[in-house]
Amino acid sequence: MRFLVTAGPTREPIDPVRYLSNRSSGKMGYAIADAAIDAGHEVILISGPVNLDPPRGAELVSVSTSDEMFAAVQQEAPRCDVLVMCAAVADYKPKQFSKTKIKKRDANLSLELIPTRDILASLPKQDRQFIVIGFAAETENVEANARHKLQEKNCDIVVANDVSRADSGMESDQNEVTILFRNGEIKRIPRAPKKIVARELIKIFENVCEKRLTKKIA
Ligand code: PMT
Repeated sequence: MRFLVTAGPTREPIDPVRYLSNRSSGKMGYAIADAAIDAGHEVILISGPVNLDPPRGAELVSVSTSDEMFAAVQQEAPRCDVLVMCAAVADYKPKQFSKTKIKKRDANLSLELIPTRDILASLPKQDRQFIVIGFAAETENVEANARHKLQEKNCDIVVANDVSRADSGMESDQNEVTILFRNGEIKRIPRAPKKIVARELIKIFENVCEKRLTKKIA
């Protein structure tokens, strides 16, 4: 199968030296790319700026902004079987980019932010040839918020993680996830190194893909 995996944060420029971003390290997305390669799949990895070595055997597409990630996913998604949107794409970006460095002054400074384009929500809703896996990074009501994202972003599966914890989730080497399916089914993977969680996730994604394929053939 051909996996398209996104990983890491995006950077939304404010001026030539400043940007808005988040704490995503890319570890979870890179672990998923690695696990998919180990399981014998082809992998295209679209990565925001991270300090990780690219997985051996993956085709790497490096991006920085949410707009670049949007364009890369649009281009690559039609030739994949499974899209895993693990990247922490910024939800907002500065309305204006200052071409010159904003000078420090003795006054408050306000930045106007506008929503970025939602990559998952912009994918075709019907007759998709690939399965779509979103992630939900939550700090409260993890399951309920993830269920909402599954519907709103029209995903086949959402993998929810609690990013309010220091021992799991964002930046950590470990994660604990709840997997929500469209039919209401829920699975959990208890806290474990991201490499182990990734291996379990790949098995689940393969299973859903196979079921989808069998349905099509029957
Ligand atoms: O990188 P690590 O340090 O290892 O941490 C891993 C992780 C916590 C970043 C990862 O497991 C994770 O949860 N990734 C999703 C982060 C996120 O942006 O979650 P969200 O709930 O804000 O977004 C929901 C989904 O919409 C995500 O699949 C996201 O990729 C997607 N999205 C978000 C914004 C946008 N403009 N377009 C999108 O498609």
